[in-house]
Amino acid sequence: MNKTVPRHIAVIMDGNGRWARERGLPRIAGHRAGVAAVRSVVEECARHGIGYLTLFAFSRENWQRPGDEVTALMELLDIFLKKELATLKKNNVRLKTIGHSDDLPPAVLKTLKSVETDTRSHDGLTLVLALSYSGKQDIVDAVRKICEKISSGELALEDVSEITVEEHLATKGIPEPDLLIRTSGEMRVSNFLLWQTAYTEFYVTDKFWPDFSADDLKEAIDEFRKRERRYGLTSDQMKAGGK
Ligand code: IPE
Ligand code: IPE
Ligand code: MG
Repeated sequence: MNKTVPRHIAVIMDGNGRWARERGLPRIAGHRAGVAAVRSVVEECARHGIGYLTLFAFSRENWQRPGDEVTALMELLDIFLKKELATLKKNNVRLKTIGHSDDLPPAVLKTLKSVETDTRSHDGLTLVLALSYSGKQDIVDAVRKICEKISSGELALEDVSEITVEEHLATKGIPEPDLLIRTSGEMRVSNFLLWQTAYTEFYVTDKFWPDFSADDLKEAIDEFRKRERRYGLTSDQMKAGGK
């Protein structure tokens, strides 16, 4: 039994559209209901002493959805950030983003930057929002930055290591996720944290994201604590003290 709580939890918040369809509602009603789930999960993580919570809020591929859905999602994000600032402050939460947030509408980007600035001194939970995020693109961006440094002579080719790559990813300074939760039953990673989930424990629940509660989070954490993370070693080796 792994006694520790995860230091970093990542979540693919999926199933808002299906939640709405089951109720005969427009997809955006599902996204709106999903915001309430975000609020409760953030508060629960802050309460549990989790260090990092990364939420996949909008993928780079999601820009290809119908225009009205994208517009509504951007509006919801803006409203969420404005409304939640007080709660983030109260809970000592620091907000960070990963992804190409420059792709966001200028007004939303402005709100995002101001919430990041207003919460940057907080040292409780770090809430990482993945916005216009693509795991493959993140790796491409890192490769480009590394190649630039090699061609300018700032970095030697033989010094490029896993650590070099990690230091050029958007998640620089953030530990790898211990637990990745995906709601709505889909068994795929959908271009989320590809590099960073090399040894992450996956937990999939059939619940749609708007129905995911603080109790469901606790259940996922309990399941995580039962897992044996072996990192390629044998169970006996792990019991003898790990690597
Ligand atoms: C997740 O819910 C939210 C985003 C991807 C922005 P979906 O909108 O993907 O819901 P489903 O998968 O269609 O049910
Ligand atoms: C992943 O969900 C992205 C987010 C949760 C923001 P999608 O609904 O976009 O993923 P696919 O299309 O089912 O793989
Ligand atoms: Mg989906």
